[in-house]
Amino acid sequence: GYSSHHKKIEAHELSARFYHHLLMNTEQGKEAYDYLLHRGFSPEMMERFQLGYSPDHSNVLKGLLEKRKFNLQEMEEAGLLLRQESNWDLKDRFRNRIMFPIQDIQGHTVGFGGRVLGEGEPKYLNSPETSIFKKNETLYGIHLARQEIRKSNTAVLFEGYADVIAASNAGITNAIAVLGTSMTERQAKIIRRNTERIIICFDGDNAGQDAARRSAEILEQEGLIVQVALLPDKEDPDDYIKANGAKRFKSEVIEAAVPLMAFKMQLLKRKKNLQDEGEKLQYIEEVLKEVTYLSKAVERDFYLRQLADEFSLSLDALKQEQFHIYKESK
Ligand code: CTP
Ligand code: MN
Ligand code: MN
Ligand code: MN
Ligand code: MN
Repeated sequence: GYSSHHKKIEAHELSARFYHHLLMNTEQGKEAYDYLLHRGFSPEMMERFQLGYSPDHSNVLKGLLEKRKFNLQEMEEAGLLLRQESNWDLKDRFRNRIMFPIQDIQGHTVGFGGRVLGEGEPKYLNSPETSIFKKNETLYGIHLARQEIRKSNTAVLFEGYADVIAASNAGITNAIAVLGTSMTERQAKIIRRNTERIIICFDGDNAGQDAARRSAEILEQEGLIVQVALLPDKEDPDDYIKANGAKRFKSEVIEAAVPLMAFKMQLLKRKKNLQDEGEKLQYIEEVLKEVTYLSKAVERDFYLRQLADEFSLSLDALKQEQFHIYKESK
C-alpha cells in the first residue's frame, strides 16, 4: 500500500544520506574517497550524484534502520537488507562498496548500484527489482538531467553510472544511462516524453556496440531521432574523457555522432580492410544488405547513392544486387 511504498523510499533516502556521509566525512570512507578522486571524480560530482560508501560490516545499516524504527522485514523486501542462509538473520546487502544512489524521475531514491573498490567480483552489485525499483522504467541520472534534456531537446545515453558522472563533469549534463541492461520500450517512451533527439554513446567493445544498435532501433520505434557515437574499441566514455579531455570528447565523439545506418557502416568498416579487393566486396555486400532492410524508401535511396559514389559503382548494378538479396530473404 501507500504507506509501505513511502517507508521504503524514506529508508532509501536515509541510507543514501548515511552512505554519502561516510564517504565524504569519515576515516572509514577515506579509501573509497581516494579511489574516486584517483579515478577523476571531483568532490562536486560526488555531491551532485550523492555518491556514498557502504561500510565493511554486516549490520551497520541494519542498526540504523532498526534505531529509526523501520520494519526490518519491509527493509528486506525493499532490497536494503538480505537474509543470511546460515542463521536466517538479516544483514546489510551492500558491504565495502562505492554506492551510486538510483533515483526515479521525481528524484526519489529507489535503489543502489554498488561498485567494488578496484578489482573484484561482482564489479557491480545492484538493488533487486522491488515494488519501488522497476528496472525497466528506470534511467540513471534522469532526475538530474531532465531540465537540460528538455532545454536542449537532446539526451545523451550511456551504458554506465561512471560514464554519466564523467560526462556531467565534462559539461554534458543531459546525460542518462540504462542500468547495464538493454533499452526497454518503457524507458524509450519516458525519454520520448522529454526530448525528440537522443545520442547513444555506449562502450566501444562488441557488447556495447551490439547494445547500441538494439537500443537505437527501440528508440527509433518510439519516434526519436537517434544518433550513435562510435568510441575506439575497448574504451568507454569515462576512459575516453580521462585520456583525451572534455573538449575532444565533445567535438570528436558527441558531435561526430551519426544516424544508425552510418554507424553500422562505420562498424563494418572497422572490421574490414578495404584495401583488399575481396574484403571490399564483402563490405559492399553487407552494407547493401543493411540498406535493403531499411524501412524508409528515402533512406534506402540515400544510402544506395552514397555507396554507389563511394565505390564508383552504377546504381543499376546495386539495385540488381538488392533485388537478389530481397529475393533470398523471402
Ligand atoms: N553493470 C552491472 N553489473 C555488473 C557489470 C555492469 O549492473 N556486474 C552495469 C552497471 O550499471 C555499469 C554498466 O553495467 O555501470 C556498464 O558496465 P561496465 O562497462 O562494465 O562498467 P563501467 O560503468 O564502465 O564501470 P567502471 O568504469 O567503474 O569499471
Ligand atoms: Mn554532501
Ligand atoms: Mn561495458
Ligand atoms: Mn564501461
Ligand atoms: Mn568505465
